[in-house]
Amino acid sequence: MTQEKVRLHRGLRDVYIDRTQSSFIDGKIGKLLYRGYNIDDLAENASFEETIYLLLYSKLPTQSELDAFDADLKANRALPEAIVEIIRLTKDAHPMDVLRTAISATAAYDPDVADNSHEANLRKGVRLTAMAPTIVAAHAQIRNGKDPVEPDLELNHAGNFLYMLFGERPDPRDAALIDKDFVLHAEHGVNASSFGARVAASTQADLHCAVTTGIAVLKGPAHGGAAEEVMKMALEIGNEENAGPYVRNLVEHGGRVMGFGHRVYRAVDPRSVHLRDDARELGERKGQPKWFSILQEVIEIMQPYSRRGICQNVDFFSGAIYYLLDIPDDLFISIFAMGRIPGWTVQVMEQFENNILLRPRLEYTGPMDLEYVKMGDRD
Ligand code: ACO
Repeated sequence: MTQEKVRLHRGLRDVYIDRTQSSFIDGKIGKLLYRGYNIDDLAENASFEETIYLLLYSKLPTQSELDAFDADLKANRALPEAIVEIIRLTKDAHPMDVLRTAISATAAYDPDVADNSHEANLRKGVRLTAMAPTIVAAHAQIRNGKDPVEPDLELNHAGNFLYMLFGERPDPRDAALIDKDFVLHAEHGVNASSFGARVAASTQADLHCAVTTGIAVLKGPAHGGAAEEVMKMALEIGNEENAGPYVRNLVEHGGRVMGFGHRVYRAVDPRSVHLRDDARELGERKGQPKWFSILQEVIEIMQPYSRRGICQNVDFFSGAIYYLLDIPDDLFISIFAMGRIPGWTVQVMEQFENNILLRPRLEYTGPMDLEYVKMGDRD
């Protein structure tokens, strides 16, 4: 028996699986739009709250719409006591495992959990977005032997996260950096984690399943885990002079420079441009300019690779920003996840609106038609 001839699309590279109105990426020139608006404008002008509204409701909010939306987000920050208990029980796990577990568990307390209507998904998306920073910060406190810090309703989403994480009100400049970081991470087409979320939705599972899947897929170093690895690399390099030998040795031995390369971008990831300026300014403000200098040196050394389309991505500078804000390195991916929940939500809502089961195929290359041998007759 022969198999039919197949055309493989390994890794689904350049395969379009559906249409979207949520984000547009031009990988050749490094351009990213959310609902038609350039990320450059949003990063400089829009708050994360405004960006979430734009993604969820397909329009920029008026002031009164934004105020109502912000109040809704704030009203959903607190966690059910059982979720805090789950965080206590899992406190020694990696923060992404705790976030995934806690987000999954919130399904048990969400009255809309099984309702896949557009309206219910908007409500659930807001709840999950609002609760994620509380989960991450509560875990950080609990694993340090402290009680979680209650959300501060006077602070915005980003500022409140830093407040709950450190137990004191943040410098507004630090809060503004995290706010922009969330804006830049909010949505990005059908990347691996959003694809995972869409696959879950395509079976008509619910938003909690899909976001839990998204968090699981984001964790790997080829995706959201890269920011942590970039900062580890910068620490290992230690000073500007070491950057050349370190990077050349890594690449010559077939290693990957973390924070470089992207499946879609062949130019510099536009998100990394904003994060670069922020990393430089923050390094100067904190009296630690050397991390930025080391990363800039890595970019210089990687210059020949840019001709092959291997340029710095969103994760390249974000790790340095988190590090300079004294955020523990194992929380870096969780910050990415907090920013991406609105993106997963809109991808899932689009999937539901015109659903089709996502079920590709594999070409079988194993043996065929073997004769079954009974247990006693096997060698
Ligand atoms: N350093 C050195 N070489 C690289 C890098 C890198 N970071 N990225 C790609 N290359 C090279 C590969 O070795 C390969 O070379 P070859 O053709 O000679 O074998 C070529 O570029 C193509 O690489 P692929 O792995 O085929 O590209 P793919 O699209 O599958 O991978 C990925 C993209 C996973 C992001 C890759 O570039 C990588 O591993 N980067 C480092 C991790 C990272 O920064 N991930 C974050 C991505 S952004 C995000 O997810 C939010």
